[in-house]
Amino acid sequence: MVEATTWLVTGSSRGIGLELVRQLVSDPSNIVVATCRDPARAPKLSALKDAAPGQLYVVALDVGSEASIRGSVAEVEGILGSKGLDYLYNNAAITEGDDSAFDFSYDGLLDTLRANVGGPALMGTVYLPLLEKGRRKVIVNMTSGLASIGLDFGAKNATYSISKTALNMLAYKQAKTRPDLIAYVVDPGWVKTDMGGPDAMMEVEESVGRLIRLATTATAESSGRFLRHDGEQVPW
Ligand SMILES: NC(=O)c1ccc[n+]([C@@H]2O[C@H](COP(=O)([O-])OP(=O)(O)OC[C@H]3O[C@@H](n4cnc5c(N)ncnc54)[C@H](OP(=O)(O)O)[C@@H]3O)[C@@H](O)[C@H]2O)c1
Repeated sequence: MVEATTWLVTGSSRGIGLELVRQLVSDPSNIVVATCRDPARAPKLSALKDAAPGQLYVVALDVGSEASIRGSVAEVEGILGSKGLDYLYNNAAITEGDDSAFDFSYDGLLDTLRANVGGPALMGTVYLPLLEKGRRKVIVNMTSGLASIGLDFGAKNATYSISKTALNMLAYKQAKTRPDLIAYVVDPGWVKTDMGGPDAMMEVEESVGRLIRLATTATAESSGRFLRHDGEQVPW
């Protein structure tokens, strides 16, 4: 009998997170903990849950709330039983849109850092014991090409870019601190979601197919790196 592979995905009510869950549950060997801010307001996720009983579990988790993050662990432990967590997929994020370094909302900047950096950082910490019990021990932190200074995207989207560059450093530090884990950041590409908008270049199905392939084939070599959906390395 194939031992189940366990996943936890944040921000799975819509967009890339929802598609990650949809594709993961299409493989019966996966057990997926799909987390979202408010399950009562995630009808597409609820529909997936009804179609995959015993394989998909929905847990409320707000990545902008320390209490919510810490409070989620006991429920996830109850779901996984004696199993560990193979993949922690930090996908949830927010954006302030196209602001600039001299014209931004102070509260918006702090809220963005809380959700996009504090959330994934605390998730890595509180889920570390379950990851240690897992067979794969992979932490994926979803970044953006806009986080790259090397790609030189200019002045646009300052708050969001600052948060994702900090997230990149988090993954680097996670990898250096724990060489027994595989921790990396990945840019999903410009994807047609609420965040990416209708003019984006990639369909969500295509991006997510690549993101899952990248995660399931990741090795120690991948750890501490800034990767693109297709596995290419992105300049810091
Ligand atoms: N789309 C792109 O082109 C693109 C490009 C580069 C990087 N990314 C990254 O890819 C990831 C997914 O993006 P997306 O395009 O799918 O975005 P999206 O369509 O805006 O969806 C964002 C998801 O994050 C959730 N979320 C936001 N704040 C949360 C919180 N405090 N707690 C829990 N969940 C929260 C949302 O939940 P609610 O429904 O509750 O709001 C939603 O499920 C993000 O990390 C994003 O930065 C996207």
